[in-house]
Amino acid sequence: MRASKLAALLSGVYLSIVAPLSFAQDISAKLAVCAACHGADGNSTMSGSPSLAGQPRIFLENNLIMIREGIRDIPVMKGQLDGLTDPQIIAIAKFYAGHTLKPTHGKHHDALYERGKLLSKQALCGTCHLPNYVGREQMPRLAGQREDYLLHSMRQFRNNTATGRDTIMAASLHGMNDDDLKAIAHYLALTK
Ligand code: HEC
Ligand code: HEC
Repeated sequence: MRASKLAALLSGVYLSIVAPLSFAQDISAKLAVCAACHGADGNSTMSGSPSLAGQPRIFLENNLIMIREGIRDIPVMKGQLDGLTDPQIIAIAKFYAGHTLKPTHGKHHDALYERGKLLSKQALCGTCHLPNYVGREQMPRLAGQREDYLLHSMRQFRNNTATGRDTIMAASLHGMNDDDLKAIAHYLALTK
């Protein structure tokens, strides 16, 4: 075997052993920053900050790229994703997608829950988010998400202030008032 060929082969072996380790290290340093708001395992305990655990990987990848590029504008996350490469984004998305969502439920209001259930059914939210609202591909999981975040994001969609987000959602919530959105947020947050 020619020396250059052997060297190339060896460096390939070397890279495949060393690269994943250093790669994991720089992801974990980043994840420690995210943990402050999204929880170490993607279960958020912070008001207004969504849980990321159990979200479809593709949904996370898409949103991380939109946030990194400044297209989805999140003031508190400004600069957090600067310099992250696409493989690092993919690794972060995989990390959170692989964790289990542990919903933190507030008080259960029967009337609000039933109204939210009916509205979600009538508006056919389950055709995209799946009938049990666990999401798939680019459609996020809604079941068990924080109630305050669900309400916040639906208000943004409805008011057309969800900059950089999929406009399909504004159409889905068209004509709904704040009480409707509160009922839907309550129902989805309590859905397992
Ligand atoms: C200072 C708090 C804070 C930090 C730190 C932070 N985030 Fe966020 N993140 C938020 C908030 C708040 C939102 C929701 C903003 C909105 O929609 O208005 C959000 C939204 C997101 C979303 C979209 C989720 C969804 O369901 O729409 C993703 C993905 C995300 N963050 C990932 C990360 C990652 C990865 C890091 C670390 C590199 C990180 N965040 C660091 C506060 C933070
Ligand atoms: C045609 C498909 C479709 C329908 C129908 C639909 N959605 Fe969505 N929804 C999406 C997609 C795609 C996204 C992701 C948008 C993005 O990442 O910018 C989304 C995002 C959301 C989010 C934001 C979650 C997050 O973590 O950021 C909420 C909340 C939501 N939808 C609720 C609903 C509700 C409630 C209904 C019914 C009234 C509904 N959706 C109907 C496709 C749909």
